[in-house]
Amino acid sequence: MADITPRKVRFDFSEVPINFDLPPEVLNRTLPAVGLSLTMPYLEPYLIRTMKVAGKQITDPVLAEDVRHFSQQEGHHYRAHADLNARIRDHFPAAVAAEIRAIEEALDADYQRFTREKSLRFNLGYAEGFEAMTCATALASAEHGGLGEVPGGMIWAWHMAEEIEHRTVAFDVYEHLVGSYPYRIVRGFLSQWHYLRYVLRFARVIAAEIGHTVGAPPNDAQGKALRRNYLRTWGPGYNPAKIELPEGVAELLAGFDKQVQAS
Ligand SMILES: [Fe+2]
Ligand SMILES: [Fe+2]
Repeated sequence: MADITPRKVRFDFSEVPINFDLPPEVLNRTLPAVGLSLTMPYLEPYLIRTMKVAGKQITDPVLAEDVRHFSQQEGHHYRAHADLNARIRDHFPAAVAAEIRAIEEALDADYQRFTREKSLRFNLGYAEGFEAMTCATALASAEHGGLGEVPGGMIWAWHMAEEIEHRTVAFDVYEHLVGSYPYRIVRGFLSQWHYLRYVLRFARVIAAEIGHTVGAPPNDAQGKALRRNYLRTWGPGYNPAKIELPEGVAELLAGFDKQVQAS
């Protein structure tokens, strides 16, 4: 069984600074991260719905338990991001907040439709494509300084650490119930394309408001690590179980354990 602990970490975003007065290259990482946060209340419930359907077909009780923990973690993530997103929308004039809302509604409609109309194979391919990409991102931020300039403070460290912690689950469920390598590649790529287009739409709305044009993220150590980790996910031998926890992640998770116990 994977070692996955659901942690109901609570954040107060009422006073959290929302600062987009940043160098352009930093904004090219920050704005997509804000876009990522804005997708969470729709993407993560979609993953949970997918895993609920998958759970009925999983014959391995250990994997079924991992899936339960995965869904509990994702449930805590999207609720915390919904609070942060409300704070982000409030930061902007009503017209910008309405534009953000309209994109959220379109994304939610897509995911509701996928749950209703698409096969479990499609939805598991999407889930694995998303989780592989997120784990690659989380590993790069854990290894090279995180997402410190993105509004939200410790939500990012917590979320990224738990994404690394549950990195095996979507892959294992995909292997258990689908198992096709070519389909993982095709569906994973198309799903990431679908997802990232929404991330960019959010980022561009905010960029237009602050007078920025979203460009390529910085090609620094974190950017290089992300590219390296991401390319590794496409190999036929890719298995997130082979990925070691980066230094500091276990300590970070232990810190959140203590925070939850004390609350
Ligand atoms: Fe998550
Ligand atoms: Fe996840």
